Order: sequence, then structure tokens, then C-alpha cells
Amino acid sequence: LTADNRPDVVWLHNAECTGCSESILRTVEPYIDALILDYISLNYHETIMAAAGHAAEKALWDTVDKGGFVAVIEGGVPTAPAGTAMEPGGHGKVGGHTMLENTTKVVEAAAATITYGTCASYGGVQKAAPNPTAAKGIGELFPGKAIINVPGCPPNPFSLVGTIVHFLTKGVPELDDAGRPVPFYGESVHDNCPRQEFFDNDQFAPSFGSEEARKGWCLRKLGCRGPETYNNCPTVKFNQYNWPVQSGHPCIGCSQPDFWDGKDWDGET
Ligand code: SF4
Ligand code: SF4
Ligand code: F3S
Repeated sequence: LTADNRPDVVWLHNAECTGCSESILRTVEPYIDALILDYISLNYHETIMAAAGHAAEKALWDTVDKGGFVAVIEGGVPTAPAGTAMEPGGHGKVGGHTMLENTTKVVEAAAATITYGTCASYGGVQKAAPNPTAAKGIGELFPGKAIINVPGCPPNPFSLVGTIVHFLTKGVPELDDAGRPVPFYGESVHDNCPRQEFFDNDQFAPSFGSEEARKGWCLRKLGCRGPETYNNCPTVKFNQYNWPVQSGHPCIGCSQPDFWDGKDWDGET
């Protein structure tokens, strides 16, 4: 990858909290300025692009018309009718068009689509019951399309940058049955958890903030879903420094297709 041969990337925001964009701003290999100025050509991103209004819309649709770009999608897509005209997807609009319309045009034209964050991958928080906007993840919305899912709430930027580099240099990485790249989601959180020796010895912290929890005992009986959750948090960490279980909070399964409504771990082992 060189500055002269940077691939076009467009990044759509749908129904989301922008936590996923916050996470990519914290990439360190490379840093965000090098990523968007030297490695890719980020032609459209509503929260960090310099352009606004019609100029921003033009940058998006010029890229789509040209084709051959990578689409990164953040957020679930509202599909329920809304507004006085009961327009499909009318709960969310950008530039006068529904997120449903914009996402459909972008995904149909993209050379590759990467969903960044569980909202985009599987619906996530946006799809939580009772889901009044009928929000959907991209895979559910476009069942025939080849989609690469980089889930998490938020994911680690390492996984997105690695996926983009892999796609541009070697093609689509091997995906698991949830559409996630195996190099970043091939092992469970439990597989690499530093509290695992306590799990193996049946030493479970009885409460948050207890002496046992501070000493590193396993958080399974406090609701940890690490054994059922595939992600690289224990090895990559957030900000290269910490991750939920290290800080004393159970993994809540944020990179799994059933997040947010999936059955909570009931504390039995
Ligand atoms: Fe926010 Fe989580 Fe959705 Fe990302 S996946 S946009 S962090 S709610
Ligand atoms: Fe596994 Fe969670 Fe216990 Fe870590 S805290 S060993 S991920 S069950
Ligand atoms: Fe999410 Fe569990 Fe990692 S909650 S951030 S997959 S530790």
C-alpha cells in the first residue's frame, strides 16, 4: 500500500452511538492520521471528514459512482415505516435519504463491505427488544452479499485495520460461521484470559470488588460469557492497556451475534 495507490473507503453511520468511530480514532498501528492520509483514501465519514453539506454528499456519491471502493458500515439500519408518508426506514435519514436507501446503494456498489461493530454486524443494541425501528444488521439485510463482520461494542481498531490490510494485500480473510475474520476472532475470550487458572481450580469471585475478585479469581459466577465469546480482547487489549475482565468486569459477549438480547450467563459452570 502506498500513498499513490490508496484504496477508496466510504464509512456510513446508521443507527449507532459512534463508539465504533471513537475506537478507530485510537488505532496505533498505524495512527489514525497515517491510516486515512497515507494508507486509505477515506472519502466519506460523517464525524471526521472536513467537508459538510452538499460537498460531503458529492464525495460519497462520486465514490459510489466510480465503484471499486471498500464500504465500512457502522450501526444497524432502521427498516420500519415512519413519518407522515410511512416511508420504509423513515426513522433514520442522512442527506434527505433514509439510511436504508443510502446503505443499499453503497453495499450494492462496493467491492467489499466490512461491518464495524455489533450494531452493523448483527443489529446489536439497535435491534434490542422491542426494536421499534425494526433495526437490522447488514448481513440480515443483504443475505446474498459477501460481508466481513468485525463485531464488538465497540471492536478493537486492531481488528478493523488488520482486516482492511488483509483484504487489500491477500483478499478476504478466512471467516468463521458468524462472518468474522478468524485471525482476529478465532479464539474465545476465555481461551486467553489470565483468570483461567482460577476457573480451572473452581475459584470463583463471589461478588464485584471482593478480595477474591481483586486477587484475579474467575468472574464466571458474576456473569462472564468469556467461554462463549470469540474476540481478541485479552491479547490485543483496548488502548494497549486494559480490557473488561482485567478491570474486574465480566465479558458480556459483545462480539456475539446474539448481543444484546442473548441469554445472560446464569452463573452456573
Ligand atoms: Fe456503539 Fe456498540 Fe453500536 Fe459500536 S456496536 S455503534 S459501540 S452501540
Ligand atoms: Fe473465562 Fe471469564 Fe473466568 Fe476469564 S473471567 S477465566 S473469560 S469465565
Ligand atoms: Fe466485549 Fe467481552 Fe471483549 S464484552 S470487549 S468481547 S471482553
